[in-house]
Amino acid sequence: MAKTAFTFEDYQAAANAIIDRLDEVPRVGIILGSGLAPLAESVENTTIIPYEEIPHWPTSGVKGHKSRLVIGTLEGRQVLVMQGRAHFYEGYTMQQVTFPVRVMQALELDTLIVTNAAGGINTSFSAGDIMLIEDHINLLGHMGQNALMGPNDPRLGERFPIFTRAYDLALRAKALEVARAEGIALQRGVYCCLSGPAFETPAEIRMFRAWGADAVGMSTAPEVTVARHGEMRVLGFSTITNVTIDHQAIEREVSHESVLDVGARTVPNLIRIIRGILRDLPAVNG
Ligand code: HPA
Repeated sequence: MAKTAFTFEDYQAAANAIIDRLDEVPRVGIILGSGLAPLAESVENTTIIPYEEIPHWPTSGVKGHKSRLVIGTLEGRQVLVMQGRAHFYEGYTMQQVTFPVRVMQALELDTLIVTNAAGGINTSFSAGDIMLIEDHINLLGHMGQNALMGPNDPRLGERFPIFTRAYDLALRAKALEVARAEGIALQRGVYCCLSGPAFETPAEIRMFRAWGADAVGMSTAPEVTVARHGEMRVLGFSTITNVTIDHQAIEREVSHESVLDVGARTVPNLIRIIRGILRDLPAVNG
């Protein structure tokens, strides 16, 4: 039976299984969401580690998620790229979903760049937009599925971590600067994390809009919660793969296939932004 809750030692063991295969320890972790796997193809001098070769690492059965680590160099930085992630809706516990981020913490990575596919709620968004995540609503977390519930190991972080600026201000400023310089339009907004796998009803979309959400998706907030608990700095992007349907009379439908398709078309611009950030990565706490 797969383990569903973990100790400090489990994270260390998984980190050691990765370190044993590397010459240099990466500094930046990148999690790729649905349709974004091609971003890993830009990484050079790679070591590839399938998730099943790392103890306890959860694999994703979802189409568009490759389930492997691609570790190597991007813009002269050592990066550890997750090509695919496990989701809560697949039946994993929150500790399993966030296991990779704990391993990144054990590897002493200082920065996490997290990406996802999301549905646009903000009426000024279009399919194919990229949204810089400025903040999130962790609905899943506040409905009793917070990744930090249970005993707190102080070696991992504080009991009551603060989330006022979960997404790093200096990295966000850098992302906007790079997008401007590259001529890429970058939306900004609040990401709302839902459990999925059912897409939302129009009534739910109207409610999330009233709450101040700009996009909805089924990932990211648990990972960011753990990364911040572990004092990693975080930057996040959503690719707006579809605009959500806020009224029953609208006939258009969303599908996982279109999510993958639009995600893939957005990748080149997201790669340019991430490359630009890595090229000139602001110092930690700088
Ligand atoms: N809703 C939830 N998650 C999503 C969507 C959506 O419309 N699009 C991509 N991920």
